[in-house]
Amino acid sequence: MAVVVLAKFGIPAIRYVRADRDGRRVLRKAWKIKATWRRTARRVGLTQSERVGPPWWKTTAQTQPVYRQLAPVIRVRAEPWGVRVDASTVGKLGLAEFQNAADYLAAAWRVRQVRVEQVLPGLLRLRALLRDPLTEPTRWTDCPTLDTQGDPLQWRAGIDADGQPVTIRTSEVSGVVVAGLAGYGKTSFLNARFCQLAPSPAVQFVLIDGKGGPDYDELFRRAWLCAKDDSQRVRDVLRDVHALMIARQQNIRAVLGVKNAWHVGPSESWPLVIVVIDEAHTFFHETKRNDTESKQLDALARESARLVEELVRKGRNVAIQVVLATQKATGDAVPTKIRDNCQVAVSFAQRTSEAATAVLGADISGSPDAHPRRLQDSAYIGVASMVAAGRPGFTLVRTPYVPDETADAIADRTAHLVRDPMRLLLDESTGATP
Ligand SMILES: Nc1ncnc2c1ncn2[C@@H]1O[C@H](COP(=O)(O)OP(=O)(O)O)[C@@H](O)[C@H]1O
Ligand SMILES: [Mg+2]
Repeated sequence: MAVVVLAKFGIPAIRYVRADRDGRRVLRKAWKIKATWRRTARRVGLTQSERVGPPWWKTTAQTQPVYRQLAPVIRVRAEPWGVRVDASTVGKLGLAEFQNAADYLAAAWRVRQVRVEQVLPGLLRLRALLRDPLTEPTRWTDCPTLDTQGDPLQWRAGIDADGQPVTIRTSEVSGVVVAGLAGYGKTSFLNARFCQLAPSPAVQFVLIDGKGGPDYDELFRRAWLCAKDDSQRVRDVLRDVHALMIARQQNIRAVLGVKNAWHVGPSESWPLVIVVIDEAHTFFHETKRNDTESKQLDALARESARLVEELVRKGRNVAIQVVLATQKATGDAVPTKIRDNCQVAVSFAQRTSEAATAVLGADISGSPDAHPRRLQDSAYIGVASMVAAGRPGFTLVRTPYVPDETADAIADRTAHLVRDPMRLLLDESTGATP
């Protein structure tokens, strides 16, 4: 009997027999999706009708035009999380039509969600999710590709729904905004970047923590400058970084022989200066009250905003990069002059479309699957939507969790690499050896 079944169904049957309970469920689902595809496509409006000529054997004149329903060609594959369906686009059936039909497909296939993404021109990838791979947390140490000495030119952000690494371009970048509701992983995401780059002598950090808690205490050891939520101290730190920017601008031709430091890349003597400002909205908030103390604080907020704005706008060619993390990226919290000049934007969960649009731009409304509003579930802590290098549209990325002990240990191990970039510049420009 078994031989007959195997002979009839061949390899799929062997796979089925070998699979565990979840694997069998996925395989059954995949077969069903494939077997019923033409009917499902018709029902959810994913067919295109095409007029065809009469068959060659008909000799009588055709009075009624004949139409045929074309369904997109699909290839189905079972994955651990559900069924991957690659569909070729046909005529006017493209990404938008599939996205509009996604909820109907999910109902027809009886799966949690169907996510649609364009992988190549003419090819869409549908994920019929029995469980979402993005809901499975990864740790920084679990990702061997992330565990190497970081590259200042790109940011290994995490992995996508297929487990493939996702990178963000960070060369020629002077501003990065990381936004999202509190507790969804912004600080951990910045820690991952810190851990990647701390072992590199070609990177110096300025760490500013608006939360004022202990989050950054240990990391400060690897920072050129640091501050907590003391507005005056923050303003002073920003002034120092701004002074560095001006000095670098005046000396770049003489020291590096180029006008843009990215053309030669960050080095030990001309390090990339990463200015992390966590809970950045804290420093831009103006009370607009009339008492003396409020006026002083407001003046500090205005000056900090102006300094950050100039760093973001002019810091690119001298390798200064500001990374702002904030719970609120709307114009009332972070001046739009700062936010909109940042070349890279990343958003963890958001409550409203306005908040998502403020960070990622209006295009995000055309990507419902990667919309940060969909991430409002504790299963999506650590998942962010972003524009990744070499990928069209927005990508959802599972970022690795960095345990505090790991980050602390790296800061400790690399603390000896801290240098004052201003001192380095003076040494270079006067020709003295460090
Ligand atoms: N990438 C992640 N994967 C899994 N859990 C995470 C991740 N990032 C953060 N968390 C969890 O969420 C908590 C809050 O993260 P945190 O980075 O402090 O959020 P935020 O800075 O956005 O308020 C962390 O203490 C951790 O338990
Ligand atoms: Mg935080």
